[in-house]
Amino acid sequence: MKYVVANWKMNLSVRESIALVRSILRSVQGRKHFPGIVICPSATALAEAHKLVTRTHLALGAQNAGPDRAGAFTGEIGIAQLEDLGCQYAILGHSERRLKFGEDDAVVHDRLTAVLASNLTPILCVGEPMEVRQAEQAEEYVLRQLKQAFANQKLPRGKSFMVAYEPVWAIGSGQPASPEQIVAMHKLIREYLLHELKLPTDHCFVLYGGSVAAKNAYQFLREPEIDGLLVGGASIKANEFAQIIGAACDVIEAQASV
Ligand code: 13P
Repeated sequence: MKYVVANWKMNLSVRESIALVRSILRSVQGRKHFPGIVICPSATALAEAHKLVTRTHLALGAQNAGPDRAGAFTGEIGIAQLEDLGCQYAILGHSERRLKFGEDDAVVHDRLTAVLASNLTPILCVGEPMEVRQAEQAEEYVLRQLKQAFANQKLPRGKSFMVAYEPVWAIGSGQPASPEQIVAMHKLIREYLLHELKLPTDHCFVLYGGSVAAKNAYQFLREPEIDGLLVGGASIKANEFAQIIGAACDVIEAQASV
């Protein structure tokens, strides 16, 4: 299974969001094989997007969640509210949350706790800044983020777990990580999920994010280690995103035919 997850970040009006969902729906029409497609609009557009994706192949996700089902957390969106809006996924620990809003490992841990206790599938983001990669400490850094997030968590059976490797230096820079760098990190992440946490293989998905574009999506998706892509800037351009989904469909069709 391959996934394409769209993180629209803080973009698009409700009207623009509706138009983009419609265009994504059109782009998979007539395809026999397609990836799991998850759309993460701004919270302002979730309700309208939910109406459009109901009974389609698209799933809905939130860009952040929790840190509880409900309660005194001004400005936050509770897990129960996200479920109410039809969300099935929640991005957690995105580097923009960590770096621009001071969400440290403890905050990410608490959000993950809340999501694990719900029906939502977490998409936990991890990834190192450039100076850490240059110091050849990227693997330790990512592993530490994983350990902090998953420390003492109850891991419900039957739940899916997604981890998105998004190196900070690759986000919005036009400079994606190389397939070799991604595959090496994905192996480490998967090893942690399967062997440290003892999660079942078919419930773990490791995605890549950072300057994914139409021109590079296929070379990432054809890697067996890369279960999918978390797409930012290119996901709000209808044509470009349709091409990324097309690349995922091509990879799945090629795999189905061997
Ligand atoms: P870009 O695809 O714009 O680099 O953003 C990646 C990202 O942050 C997705 O969560």
